[in-house]
Amino acid sequence: MSSSSTNNTDPHIAVLAFPFGTHAAPLLTIIHRLATASPKTHFSFFSTSTSNTKIFPTSKHGGELLNLKAYDVWNGVPEGYVQVGKPQEDIELFVKAAPESFRKGIKAAVAELGREVSCLVSDAFFWFAAEMAEEMGVPWVPFWTAGPHSLSAHVHTELIRETIGVGGIEGRENQTLKFIPGMSQIRVRDLPEGVVFGNLESVFSRMLHQMGQMLPLATAVFINSFEELDLTTTNHFKSKFNKFLSIGPFNLVSPQVSQPTSDTSGCLSWLEKRRTASVAYVSFGSVATPPPNELFALAEALEASGVPFIWSLRDNSKVHLPNGFLEKTKVNGLIVPWAPQLDILAHSAVGVFITHCGWNSLLESISGGVPMICRPFFGDQRLNGQLIEAVLEVGLKVEGGILTKNGVISSLDVILYKEKGKKMREKMKALREFAKEAVGPEGSSARNFESLLPIVSKPKTNAAKE
Ligand SMILES: *[C@@H]1O[C@H](CO)[C@@H](O)[C@H](O)[C@H]1NC(C)=O
Repeated sequence: MSSSSTNNTDPHIAVLAFPFGTHAAPLLTIIHRLATASPKTHFSFFSTSTSNTKIFPTSKHGGELLNLKAYDVWNGVPEGYVQVGKPQEDIELFVKAAPESFRKGIKAAVAELGREVSCLVSDAFFWFAAEMAEEMGVPWVPFWTAGPHSLSAHVHTELIRETIGVGGIEGRENQTLKFIPGMSQIRVRDLPEGVVFGNLESVFSRMLHQMGQMLPLATAVFINSFEELDLTTTNHFKSKFNKFLSIGPFNLVSPQVSQPTSDTSGCLSWLEKRRTASVAYVSFGSVATPPPNELFALAEALEASGVPFIWSLRDNSKVHLPNGFLEKTKVNGLIVPWAPQLDILAHSAVGVFITHCGWNSLLESISGGVPMICRPFFGDQRLNGQLIEAVLEVGLKVEGGILTKNGVISSLDVILYKEKGKKMREKMKALREFAKEAVGPEGSSARNFESLLPIVSKPKTNAAKE
């Protein structure tokens, strides 16, 4: 279809991506699906040039779809600025400039396309998109990239602060959040930083707090999860938001726009030679790296246990491994700088996933039916770990929150060889079935996607507001 066959009253969706961590790629995945399903609707995708270059597979000008185009927005770093190395400095600079950067980007896209914006889809972080959408007289449809329980922590921040108190949480860290539907087994200590402990006034904490307050104003909130994962939380959000649409797991639906699938690393052919559910797959994602002493302890545990493993580890981290480790584990282990995670987790030889417990990794582990050992670092990861161990009972958190030789050996032993581990595997496989059904014909996620499509692709009404 060429652009000449469309006209300027057709819908135009502005999509505002958060360019850090694993945020923009899943948003692009769903936008790609919407764009494919609605060829007359145009999608302008706004992110930084670094992020766009990473996630758009062919050219940064939109890949293969004619109705999807990427626009680079400013990263917020002033010219000549020298980063002082504060944590989250790049995020803070971006976020401070974001409303203005996005406004500029949208203006340029509208001028180029000759079509007004008819809907604003954004990463849920960008609460200010609610105000932008109101000014434009269009719906705001935010996307929460993580799970429903961490979302609940931000939506209920006020309530949690009133009930638990803020500041030091000593003595209260094991209290549960049973005053929030679906959170009865989540403890204060599992919360993301910035809710009741950590820096409550950082740019990032304030952004999440404001997000929680603004989301009930959204036309619809959508999420990469599936309803059957936790019906209590799902129903709670259905009553709290105008619309709450779980449309995942994305990795079971769409081809991953930005993930190549070829086995250049040799991982899949290596797995072919292994027994069912015998291999540990180790990856802490692209953002966090365990400190050197923990990498060392993990390597010692893998070697001592004799469990075959694939470890996705950057080359510059190898210096932290014990002397002779690479040589001694050559037969039983495979260390690669990049691994096709989804394909590995889907392989029947993989029996356990040692992970930071990020939301996307959690979904991918469910999709593979693989129990997890969680070593959380920040944000929603502790909460995900608690969800995995205490609520879903499909894995274990590392003892004391850090990787130790004995802790890892005993977790591997439970999950790979004990009755308890077998039960976890069965529960993971049951979850996988629920997830597959959700995205299958007539499944909850499939139906929710069908509801999302007309919300975002509704042409702009000329009556100023509704
Ligand atoms: C919280 O639970 C941990 C064990 O998980 C325990 O070591 C700690 O003492 C408990 N804290 C309080 C205040 O009860």
